[in-house]
Amino acid sequence: MSDVRLLGTVGDARAFCEEARARGAVVGLVPTMGALHEGHLSLLRRSVAETDVTVVSIFVNPLQFGAGEDLEAYPRGFEDDVRLCAAEGAEAVFAPGAAEMYPAPPVTNLDFGELSAPLEGVHRPGHLPGVGVVVAKLFAIVGACRAYFGEKDWQQLAVVRRLAADLSLPVEVVGCPTVREPDGLALSSRNAYLDPAERAAAVVLQRSLRAGAALIEAGERRTGAVEAAMAEVLASAPLLGPVDYACVVDAATLAPREPLAGELRLLVAAHLGGARLIDNLGATVPT
Ligand code: PAJ
Repeated sequence: MSDVRLLGTVGDARAFCEEARARGAVVGLVPTMGALHEGHLSLLRRSVAETDVTVVSIFVNPLQFGAGEDLEAYPRGFEDDVRLCAAEGAEAVFAPGAAEMYPAPPVTNLDFGELSAPLEGVHRPGHLPGVGVVVAKLFAIVGACRAYFGEKDWQQLAVVRRLAADLSLPVEVVGCPTVREPDGLALSSRNAYLDPAERAAAVVLQRSLRAGAALIEAGERRTGAVEAAMAEVLASAPLLGPVDYACVVDAATLAPREPLAGELRLLVAAHLGGARLIDNLGATVPT
């Protein structure tokens, strides 16, 4: 296992990355909130393979949690996380405290317009703006780099891509496929909230996405028909709580398409026990 540098301050993280680039190294950044699982590790491995120096950030960002959400309960396991980062070949872990990241509550507000308004924007209104601020800070601290994000959080990935492009940040955003359990459940730190019966029921999200994608594959072009089929599968799961959305939208703009055409994304969000789970899947209608 290689050694991993622990960086606790903005200044140390910035100096570490600047020094790496001065040696000609390409820096890879893997932003996380910790409680690392194989999904996070897939990003980390890709960064290690494609860059020279990988920095994993671990920061449970209070700004992206709404009132009454799971900020306090969010799974944490710092020592295991650092061990995993070292074992996978990361050079550094940037793990600032909340006061280091936010010496004063930020007044800067990032609004991603049509990209953040639907889906998560409806059900977690401050979430994507809060992600935007912390990711913008990480990009500003780390500087020129390749930054790895999971497709698991499709809308987050779309927002982060636009953040980097709109503000000409020197960051290449790399999207990575969703890592799943053998039964299809997307890995998530929040799966830890599920009891065994809920865990068994959670596979319904993936089944709903597959049902929608299969309809499109079979020639269905009406958005409503696809979304109804997705909702019907979700309704068949006895333990499932409220469904926030079960939608098919344009993969890049997240806007509705009628009739369905081009690169599409099916997305679901639903409550199950104490967890709120999200997942998504791609579909293509040749144009
Ligand atoms: P977190 O939920 O810890 O996820 C960190 C990164 O891992 C994100 O890019 C996420 O999409 C990716 N990821 C999570 N589960 C995955 C899976 N099953 N397969 C592939 N990738 C997966 O997302 C966040 O943290 C935060 O919002 C953050 C970007 C760090 C900003 O605070």
